[in-house]
Amino acid sequence: MRLIRHDATGPALIEVGGSTVAVCQCGLSRNKPFCDGTHAKTRDEEPGKTYVYDADHNRVIVEDMFPTPGKKFVHKP
Ligand code: FES
Repeated sequence: MRLIRHDATGPALIEVGGSTVAVCQCGLSRNKPFCDGTHAKTRDEEPGKTYVYDADHNRVIVEDMFPTPGKKFVHKP
């Protein structure tokens, strides 16, 4: 298991051969590197909070897991 930080809540749109390709930047797509629309689950994330998703893309933890420097870690089970 690894945790990888993703802050983007939508894809990068890249022009390839005259077509626009949406590349996942949120980390949740099941069709990487392409966006599959799952980033919609990130739309209500609040700045300053850390969100963790399980393999089924269910949000399982919402807490201040990675506080900004100088801010104390807060665990809220
Ligand atoms: S940006 Fe990740 S699924 Fe769309």
